[in-house]
Amino acid sequence: MLNSKMVELNQRLDAALELGIDKCLRDADRLDGFPHVTRNGDWLVSEHGRWTAGFFVGMLWLAGLVRGSEEIFETADAWAARLYSRSFDRTTHDMGFLFEPSVVRGYNILGRTGHRATAIQAARSLATRFHSKGGYIPAWSPEEDPCYLGLAIVDTVMNLSILLWAGRQTSDDELTTVGRRCAETIRAQHVRPDGSTYHTVNHDNESGAVTERNTHQGAHSESCWTRGQAWALYGFAKVGRMTGSEDMLATAQQVADHFLERLGDRALPPWDFDRDFDDEPRDSAAGAIAASGLLELGRNSGESAYTDAGRRIVLGLIETCVDFARIETPGLLMHGTVDYPRNSGVDESIIYGDHYFMEALVKLRHPQHWDVLGCS
Ligand code: GLY
Repeated sequence: MLNSKMVELNQRLDAALELGIDKCLRDADRLDGFPHVTRNGDWLVSEHGRWTAGFFVGMLWLAGLVRGSEEIFETADAWAARLYSRSFDRTTHDMGFLFEPSVVRGYNILGRTGHRATAIQAARSLATRFHSKGGYIPAWSPEEDPCYLGLAIVDTVMNLSILLWAGRQTSDDELTTVGRRCAETIRAQHVRPDGSTYHTVNHDNESGAVTERNTHQGAHSESCWTRGQAWALYGFAKVGRMTGSEDMLATAQQVADHFLERLGDRALPPWDFDRDFDDEPRDSAAGAIAASGLLELGRNSGESAYTDAGRRIVLGLIETCVDFARIETPGLLMHGTVDYPRNSGVDESIIYGDHYFMEALVKLRHPQHWDVLGCS
């Protein structure tokens, strides 16, 4: 039987979710572009959607699921359609971030063939980036910066589920093979023996061999950038579920154990685990991603300790990063950090922080919707 403490905590979770729903519905009405990060108290928006547009659409689907509203689904659907043309983009690894919470989730909910075709196209565009000798997908385009040639980042593991999903939808083994091989490479090249992760790995473009391990947004080459660790935790948990690979699941657990050990009894992580000082910024987005990933890992592994840790982090983030009095203020989760070394988006609300926080809340309070949330 639920005791009164449990009832009170569940009410807290429900209140945070309702606040998030109210905020994203208001944003859907008033914004003309996709929200990315707050600055001076409002969202920076873009028509193009950068790499983050899928998260706002994903939040609208979550809102529709929780409220059981066809009208909200129509709103989500209209925002998702604005992303369709991006499915042909071959210049980035971000296709899972863009299309899983938005278009795959929308397809799972409404069954529209346009969403299915778009998500498959996105996976095919992503697969064109695969370096078959090296077994990796470069993150960004060398046209943007020549240094990006051969540069892989740990975040990519989150983008592999759309390849595995599209492989299943189309029976195209090549998509599945690219997803599996890339996951194996990230596991071998980015995960250190202690379960921490390297953010970036550089490769020789000819041979595909590793030339350097470093970081882009972390403190230094040997540090553990917190959000990269959170992406790895969640990404390997998803790949483990979708491939049935015990090795991938074991890696997800190893990465999760490292994250939890360094987080200790806190909920709000430092921006980099190796810059864990009181006067350094925090990254609530890393906390939210890790929490939703831990809930996924708890479900996949049957280890309730991960579920408990995910719930504890969500409750802690409510205490430290949600202001229930800021009903009109854009952004749900305060204290996120986009890129501390470049002083970009420090101590702000970030759309992926809000998305994964709301996703974790839905998993905790509305688990009947879990199976439509993403790729399977
Ligand atoms: N995937 C980019 C980031 O987490 O900042």
